[in-house]
Amino acid sequence: MKFFVDTAEIDEIKDLASLNMIDGVTTNPSLIAKSGRDFKEVIAEICKVTDGPVSAETVALDAETMIKEGRELAKIADNIAVKVPLTWDGLRACKVLTDEGRMVNVTLCFSANQALLAAKAGATFISPFIGRLDDLNLDGLELIQDIRTIYDNYGFETQILAASIRNANHISDCAKIGADVVTAPAKVLQAMVKHALTDKGLEAFLEDWKKTGQTIL
Ligand code: E4P
Repeated sequence: MKFFVDTAEIDEIKDLASLNMIDGVTTNPSLIAKSGRDFKEVIAEICKVTDGPVSAETVALDAETMIKEGRELAKIADNIAVKVPLTWDGLRACKVLTDEGRMVNVTLCFSANQALLAAKAGATFISPFIGRLDDLNLDGLELIQDIRTIYDNYGFETQILAASIRNANHISDCAKIGADVVTAPAKVLQAMVKHALTDKGLEAFLEDWKKTGQTIL
């Protein structure tokens, strides 16, 4: 399973990349706004930190402008995945951009039917948003499962990029279902290491070690 980090913060990306923990990066207009930095500049910087796909999102609503924006973003680096929204115009842009050989991430997916359309349009990645469905008391993981079943039924190669990840359990659940990629904030990826029994066990070992009066170095 691939891990992408969902952030526009360079230091977070560098830290995870130094541990070989990430295979790519996703951003969105909200994350760019939060960073307070120039969009193209920050995307270019991210592309230097990772060789994996870096999602940069278009902001136009019509296909023609979206395609132009996608081409412009793709000039930044070879590992750009142009992110388009799950609308008819987004699907049109997806088809054109993938035909040109670019990676396309179709985002804001909330139903299996939307995911089916994105695969038909040749999307490289489909981004179903788990957390935002859960926020409405719907079942985000069920959507991942449904998309997995549908894509496997027909051999679609579009990669399922589970997004809007809110906790570490989401990640292991997505792995069990067979999502190809998860994109999560750095703090959620880091939270995967936490276990109360690890902390408790370590504390006990160190207490006992103190009693030996020994040192290693
Ligand atoms: C994915 O590409 C999105 O940027 C992201 O996962 C959205 O997550 P949120 O629902 O926590 O904003």
